[in-house]
Amino acid sequence: MSDPTPTEIAEAKRALAKALRVVVLTGAGVSAESGIPTFRGPGGLWKQFRAEDLATPIAFGRDPRLVWEWYAWRRAEVAKCRPNAAHLALARWMLSRPGVTLVSQNVDDLHERAAREVAGDADRAARVAPIRLHGSLFHDRCARCNHRTEGGAVDATSLETLPHCAECGGLMRPDVVWFGEMLPARAVETAFAAAGEAEACLVVGTTGAVYRAAGVAHTAKAAGASVIIVDPGQTELDAIADLRLQGKAGEVVPLILG
Ligand code: OAD
Repeated sequence: MSDPTPTEIAEAKRALAKALRVVVLTGAGVSAESGIPTFRGPGGLWKQFRAEDLATPIAFGRDPRLVWEWYAWRRAEVAKCRPNAAHLALARWMLSRPGVTLVSQNVDDLHERAAREVAGDADRAARVAPIRLHGSLFHDRCARCNHRTEGGAVDATSLETLPHCAECGGLMRPDVVWFGEMLPARAVETAFAAAGEAEACLVVGTTGAVYRAAGVAHTAKAAGASVIIVDPGQTELDAIADLRLQGKAGEVVPLILG
């Protein structure tokens, strides 16, 4: 892997600075330097665990305790991690200029935590909150009535100890999107509207293998946006990239947004 050249960095900065509207699409790679494993790379979650056993409504129906055990473990692991230089640079940049929509596939809430750290108060932080296409690891939703709550520590030793809904008594589930499920409609609508108006699209740390999320970059490209990819590896979106910056998010993103 060769680092991006100063010319490439300057080109990316220029494209982003001159765009009145920018859509940013992030994936697991933006959180890799925070210590959170990606899904498909070496050591990736889907290399160690079977998504069919853990991240589908059928798996939850079959064995909710097992599914919760895995999510409780992930929740605890991710809670120990901190936003890295890429999350912080994105939050600072969004606060410094209008016209940026951040769309994330991540459920780790690190963009939200970076926004709170950088903004200082909740109102400013809310202005730069990401659109979450795949939900949040830190929220629960009732599997029966859809009532949503903040999620806490989960005792997954038995069915009885799992969280239950305060409204209807049903079993709570992690409020994340599983394979075979629809994405939240409002999030999709807002993300694609932003993509359709974007003059630049910054894609950070995603293989672009999962749709509809990857469609955000395609929609922006079709609308005439310059597509800039930051990723140390190859991605399925490379074919539509105007500029590919090969490198780690925590190193490259602060350079192009600084
Ligand atoms: P993947 O694991 O598919 O891709 C991670 C990407 O991050 C790869 O392109 C890596 O090269 C890149 N990467 C690794 N380290 C990086 C670093 N330090 N800086 C920048 N990039 C780095 O993850 P996603 O594309 O996010 O869905 O996966 C998409 C969806 O698939 C996830 O949201 C999840 C999963 O199944 C759901 O849970 C619904």
